[in-house]
Amino acid sequence: MAGGALSASGVAADVVLAEIRELRALDRPTHGGRLFAYVYDPAVPGLDDLAAAAHRESAHVNGLDPTAFPSLLAMENALVGAAGRVLGGGPGTTAPDVVGSVTSGGTESLILAVKAARDAHPELAAPRIVVPASAHAAFAKAAHYLRVALDVVPVSPDTLRPDPAAMAAAIGPETVLVACSAPSYAHGVVDPVAEIAAAAAAAGVRCHVDACFGGWTLPYLRRLGAPVPPFDFAVPGVTSISVDLHKYAYAPKGVSVLLHRDAAGRAPQYFAYADWPGYTMINPGIASTRSGGPIAAAYATLRHLGDAGYLALAERTRDAVAGLAEAVRRVDGLRLMAEPESTVVCFTAAEGGPDLFVLVDELTARGWHTQPQLSYAGLPASVHLTVTAAVAPRVAEFGPDLADAVAAAHAAGPVALPAELMALATSLTPDALTPELVAGLAAGLGLTGAGDAPTPERMAVVNTLLDAAPPALRERLLVEFVGLLQRPAWGSDG
Ligand SMILES: Cc1ncc(COP(=O)(O)O)c(C=O)c1O
Repeated sequence: MAGGALSASGVAADVVLAEIRELRALDRPTHGGRLFAYVYDPAVPGLDDLAAAAHRESAHVNGLDPTAFPSLLAMENALVGAAGRVLGGGPGTTAPDVVGSVTSGGTESLILAVKAARDAHPELAAPRIVVPASAHAAFAKAAHYLRVALDVVPVSPDTLRPDPAAMAAAIGPETVLVACSAPSYAHGVVDPVAEIAAAAAAAGVRCHVDACFGGWTLPYLRRLGAPVPPFDFAVPGVTSISVDLHKYAYAPKGVSVLLHRDAAGRAPQYFAYADWPGYTMINPGIASTRSGGPIAAAYATLRHLGDAGYLALAERTRDAVAGLAEAVRRVDGLRLMAEPESTVVCFTAAEGGPDLFVLVDELTARGWHTQPQLSYAGLPASVHLTVTAAVAPRVAEFGPDLADAVAAAHAAGPVALPAELMALATSLTPDALTPELVAGLAAGLGLTGAGDAPTPERMAVVNTLLDAAPPALRERLLVEFVGLLQRPAWGSDG
């Protein structure tokens, strides 16, 4: 029976931990301020240990039943209270009745916001939601899972924001939710929330502000003097807001908060079921059994850093953003997609600039892990940098390395895909993709899926192929590629 993770007769604890450490050495560096996506690092000494200890205290507590584990309920309520305060709600504000739930992440918060909006209108047979093209992909996932139609409003290639009039015009009799971002993940710009919320309110429709990414930094940046536009519960018409504590609240992964302006707004978010012989199930979120670990870790993080800690971290992050943006401005051939207004630096190639995908590889070779973004609907391909406080001490090293990487990308020249591959990318329909074709493509691109290097060190060829393909084919190719990566490791036992 033994195989894979199941050893034959048990492996000593220190050996198992050594195995995990060996595996972790394959990963991108989660600390050190050189990774500009996936992780949020405040570089606060001792914080990891505190969060891990808090996680250990509550790892086996089950969020399934708050009456059995009041410790978890108390910590969740404290997290919701903190998030509500940070986002303009609570006693003494114009949104005194804000309530919320703790979820596992931004995607779950957005799915639940859409579910609550949908289920508030059981009379609608074909509910719809309106989102800007820059809204996080999790809205599309929510629409897909919940069978809600998605009306996507384009964003201006200049401002990277939707036109509020176009958002208003997209609202119809079946619209149950209008969404906007504060800020958008891809470019870090804050949508015109006040105008969009006003249009939604005028139509009697809910308005969700996706502040998953920026909800914990924008209020602090504003306190530091940044011109942050209104985006929280102070804005009339905003009915719900999501904020991820595992992003800029610097909690370990697995915690987001979904807030509603009042309990009536939250009510259709719950799922209750008594029509079976077991316990009556009553869940605010998607999961039923939930570990208390991430919640305790988030609670400890907020308590330890405190308001003053977050203000100081936002200041450090703001300065890092300014330094990185200046480094981009100084390099010929690059241009900022937008002047930074939050914690994202996003740039693209100017006329005569380098091949961005080659540049990303050159930066990786120099120890900087950035995130390439494919061209989409008239917006050029770009390079995304999520900036956290840990980046601050690294900023001075980035400029010279960026200039050097750009020079190397120019010297290497753009990726030239073989003509037949290019033809495939532009003409193939997703349905025509056979497993054989995918396997051949993957092998040709160096995506072996095997061992220590499941993907090639240089990804420019893969990104160029994906960039040439329309979105539906990109999706299908990536599903197939990831399917190749996710296969059982049967092991030989040990
Ligand atoms: C604006 C925004 N919304 C939602 C999400 C989804 O969050 P998660 O990855 O925690 O599900 C993200 C993630 O980056 C985001 O930036």
